Amino acid sequence: MVRPRPAVEALPAYRPGRNPADLAREIGVERAVKLASNEVAFPPLPAVVEALAAAAAETNRYPDNGAVALTGALARRYGVDPAQVATGCGAVMLLQQLAQAYNDPGTSIAFAWRSFEMYPLLAQVAGARAVQVPLVPGSPGGAADTHDLEALAAAVDDTTRLVLVCNPNNPTGTAVRRAALERFLDAVPEGTLVVLDEAYREFVTDPDVPDGLELMRGRPNVCVLRTFSKAWGLAGLRVGYLVAEDPAVADAVRRTHVPFSVSSVAQAAAVAALASEDEVRRRVGEVTTERDRLTAALRGRGFEVADSQANFVWLPVGDRTADLAAALESRAVITRPFAGEGIRVTVGTPEEDDVFLTALDEVAAAAGVA
Ligand SMILES: Cc1ncc(COP(=O)(O)O)c(C=O)c1O
Repeated sequence: MVRPRPAVEALPAYRPGRNPADLAREIGVERAVKLASNEVAFPPLPAVVEALAAAAAETNRYPDNGAVALTGALARRYGVDPAQVATGCGAVMLLQQLAQAYNDPGTSIAFAWRSFEMYPLLAQVAGARAVQVPLVPGSPGGAADTHDLEALAAAVDDTTRLVLVCNPNNPTGTAVRRAALERFLDAVPEGTLVVLDEAYREFVTDPDVPDGLELMRGRPNVCVLRTFSKAWGLAGLRVGYLVAEDPAVADAVRRTHVPFSVSSVAQAAAVAALASEDEVRRRVGEVTTERDRLTAALRGRGFEVADSQANFVWLPVGDRTADLAAALESRAVITRPFAGEGIRVTVGTPEEDDVFLTALDEVAAAAGVA
């Protein structure tokens, strides 16, 4: 038998999330609510549906491998040169491209933990060392943990090619503030690329949480990752982008691009979504208002919930996590448990969140979290 590389054999097997239709059938209810993947609940934007229909008529052709129209639209929107932009098949693919571009075996990737699940796997596949720096307790009143940027900067050494800062952090929803992030960027040596993963940037309402694209200016070792999967409602199409202060970074990422991996329909949809930004902002406003209502409702039930700057909230229920998530599923609500740590709950529609809160009220005592 031909064996895969040990690093690949050691990767966890893919475990699909629960499908709401399957769960509903299994427990005999009409509909299950999925609050597990940080999608937005709105249907695709009307302009996106139109663009998809038009693009569908051309799917016998390969996509534009350089995504010129989308890259140009992003460059105009964010006031950068197209040479500073790279698009990818989701931000996850861009993370993989970054590791391919910068990490030889024996080098390292540093990041906070707990953070986005993909980060340790990224290092493993690249044959790089994952340097994980524990989160620290958040600000007073904020139960969820947050980045320890001083410790993260101290963990960077001359093997560290990438340092990933997920802001706001998935799954805790906490965000680092301007002064702390500027100090961090000043401290990281030039030979290490700082990747500000801003997948949830559009949901930030705290004015002191900096826009990475502004902080990046004048810092050639900083780049920003964003995605169309969350606020822009294109999770099913897979489009993300990277903006780098130094065009050489975008160039390195483009060199590791899997040819044609951003499909023609995805490119057309992303261009249409960008042109509908007003409607996207309005929808995001509804999500953040609902996030605040959900947070208050959970605190009212005695849960320690930190202010989230993303489109999800974090319930740090520790060793009750698995029981609570299973109990919620038995009430047709799918959340994202992190065993032994907590549950991440995506902000849904007010109706979906009420289904979740009702289910929580029903199961909390039995699951030992009331
Ligand atoms: C922090 C973070 N970064 C990146 C991504 C990847 O987004 P996508 O590959 O859908 O663009 C996610 C998705 O969940 C995320 O939470």
